[in-house]
Amino acid sequence: MKIFKQFILLAALTMSQLVTAAMPANKSVLNDAYTYANYNQVITTHLYLDLAVDFEQKTLSGFAELSLKWLVDDTNTVILDTRDLIIHKVMTQNSQGEWQKVSFDLAKRDHVLGAKLTIKAKYQAEKLRVYYNSTEKASGLQWLSAEQTAGKEQPFLFSQNQAIHARSWIPIQDTPSVRVTYTARITTDKDLLAVMSANNEPDTERDGDYFFSMPQAIPAYLIAIGVGDLHFKAMSHQTGIYAETNILDAAVAEFDDTQAMINKAEKMYGKYRWGRYDLLILPPSFPFGGMENPRLSFITPTVIAGDKSLVNLIAHELAHSWSGNLVTNESWRDLWLNEGFTSYVENRIMEAVFGENRAIMEQALDAQGLNNEIVELAPSDTKLYIDLKGRDPDDAFSGVPYTKGQLFLIYLEKKFGRDRFDTFVLEYFDSHAFQSLGTTDFVKYLKENLTHKYPNIVSDEEVNEWIYEQGLPAFVPKPTSTAFSTIDFQISQWLADTITLEQLPTASWTLHEWLHFINNLPINVNNERMSVLDNTFDLTHSNNAEIAHAWYLLSVRSGYDVVFPAMSEYLIAIGRRKLIVPLYKELAQTEQGKAWALKVYQQARPGYHGLAQGTIDGILKKDN
Ligand code: BES
Ligand code: ZN
Repeated sequence: MKIFKQFILLAALTMSQLVTAAMPANKSVLNDAYTYANYNQVITTHLYLDLAVDFEQKTLSGFAELSLKWLVDDTNTVILDTRDLIIHKVMTQNSQGEWQKVSFDLAKRDHVLGAKLTIKAKYQAEKLRVYYNSTEKASGLQWLSAEQTAGKEQPFLFSQNQAIHARSWIPIQDTPSVRVTYTARITTDKDLLAVMSANNEPDTERDGDYFFSMPQAIPAYLIAIGVGDLHFKAMSHQTGIYAETNILDAAVAEFDDTQAMINKAEKMYGKYRWGRYDLLILPPSFPFGGMENPRLSFITPTVIAGDKSLVNLIAHELAHSWSGNLVTNESWRDLWLNEGFTSYVENRIMEAVFGENRAIMEQALDAQGLNNEIVELAPSDTKLYIDLKGRDPDDAFSGVPYTKGQLFLIYLEKKFGRDRFDTFVLEYFDSHAFQSLGTTDFVKYLKENLTHKYPNIVSDEEVNEWIYEQGLPAFVPKPTSTAFSTIDFQISQWLADTITLEQLPTASWTLHEWLHFINNLPINVNNERMSVLDNTFDLTHSNNAEIAHAWYLLSVRSGYDVVFPAMSEYLIAIGRRKLIVPLYKELAQTEQGKAWALKVYQQARPGYHGLAQGTIDGILKKDN
C-alpha cells in the first residue's frame, strides 16, 4: 500500500514539473513589502515538505525542500521568510545530486515580518533543504487539545496562512508573487487523519502516514494543513466534507448545494481548474468564516445554521478558485483584487443558485455594513489600493476590500451591461490564470479591455476615484431590496405603536430579513421594547450565529443586560473574529461593559486562535 502511495507521489511529481513549465512571467520589481525574499533573483518552483506532527510538543518538524529557479547570474544567495522557527541545518544539492551543508544566517525577528533567513549557497543550487521545526508560537497554526474539539477525544491542528503566516511553519518565499507546486509527506498519530490543500484521497488508509501532491502552482498563503479525528462524506462526484463525526451529517445537509454552485460558476467564469472541491469543517475557534485553501476550503462550523441561510460563505470560498487562487493579488496592498472580485463572484453564484431576491438582500446587508464601518475607519484605510504603512496586514483588515471592491464591480457591470462585463471577467481570469498581479496592472488591463474598449461610459477619473480615493464615490450603486423597504416601514409602524409584533409577518422572514430588522432598530430602543422583542422571538437564544451576533450587539448598545449570560456562552464557544470582535469593541465602550468583557475574555482567551487573541488583547488593553 505504501509503495503504491509513493508511486502516486512520484507520478505527481513528474506531472508537477510539467505544470511548473508554464510558470508566469518573472517579476523584476519587488512589489511585495511583506517578504524578505529576493524573488527578483531566485524563485522557488516546487516545495516538498516532510513533516512530523507532534501534538505534545506542539511542533511540526522535518525539512522543507525547495526547487529553485535562478533568474540572474550574479548571486548564490537565497533569502527566505521565517517566523519563530528553529533552523537546524541547511543543505543544497548540486546537479550531480550531491548534498552539502551550507551556512545560513537567521536575523533578529522583526515583529511584523519575522526573521529573515539568508542562505549562502556556494553555487546556484537546484535544490535546497532546510531542516527545522516550528514552535508553539507559530502564528499560522492552532493546536487544540481534545477537550477543545467537537468529539473531545482527539486533538486537532489546523493552519491559517493568509496573510503572512506560512513562514511560521514553513521556511519559504512567503509572498503571493511567487507560486509553487508542492508535495508533502505528513506523519502523525495513526488515529488521526491529515488533509492538505492538495489531492486528498477520501479512501486513504488511515495509518498516520500521508502523502499529498498539489500539481497546480499556488502561493505560500494557500498551503494548508488540517489534522484531527476527521471523517469524509461525499456530497457529489466532485465535492465532499471532512469533519469530526458528530457534525459531518449536519454539514453535508447544509452544504449540499456546493456542486450546483460549481456548475453555475463554471458557466459564468470558465472551467473549475482544481479537480475536487472539498470542505474541511474546523472547530469553532477557527478565526475566519472560511479560507479558500485550494481543493479544500476551510470552514467555520458557525455557518451550519440548519437552513442553508449562511451558505454564501461556501459560494465565497469557492469563488476564490477563480479570483485569488487562479488570479492572485501580488501583494497584500492589492487584497481588494482577491476579495472584491470574490465578493462579486460569490454574489453572482448566490443569485444563480438561490435567486435574485436573496442575492440583492445579501448585497444590501453588506453595503449597510460597509457604510457603518467606513465612519469608524481611518480615512486612508477606506481606499481600495490601501497604504499599509508597514503595519501588520492583519491589523489593516476591514470590509473595504470586500464590499467596496464588490460595489465597484457591480458599478461596472451596470454601466457596461452584464454580457460585456461577464466576458471581461471571464477573459481576465483566463488571461491571468496562475499569475499574480497588482492594482496598477489591473487598472491597465481594465482600461484596455473594458473602459477604453467601450469609450465614454466610464471615465479614467471615475476608475481612479474608485481605486485610489477614500470613502465611497457619489455614484456608488445602492443595492435596494423591496423586502427590506417593507421591513423599514414595519419597524416605523411598530415604533409608532400602530402595529404589534404579532402583526409582523415574521414566520416567512428569511435570515436576511431578520438581520435587516435587527440592524435597523434604533440603538436607543428602550429595555421594555427589547424585552417584548425577546419574549416574542427569543432572540437571545437564537441558534443562528449571525442573528445572535446582531442581537447581542444591539443589546450592548441599548443596555439590555438580559443577554449577558447567553452572550458570555457565545463568546466562550466561538472564536470567529467577525462574530466576536465587534462585541468586545462595543463592550469596551463603557467601563462596566469592559470589566464584564475582561472577565469573559479571561475564560474565552485560551480557546481563541492567536489572531483573535491579538485583536482582542488590543481592544481590552488596560490603558484604553
Ligand atoms: N481569504 C479570506 C480570509 C482572509 C482574508 C484571511 C485576509 C486572512 C486575510 C476568506 O476568503 C474570507 O474572505 N472569509 C470571509 C468570508 C465572508 C466574506 C463570506 C470570512 O471569513 O468571514
Ligand atoms: Zn475571501
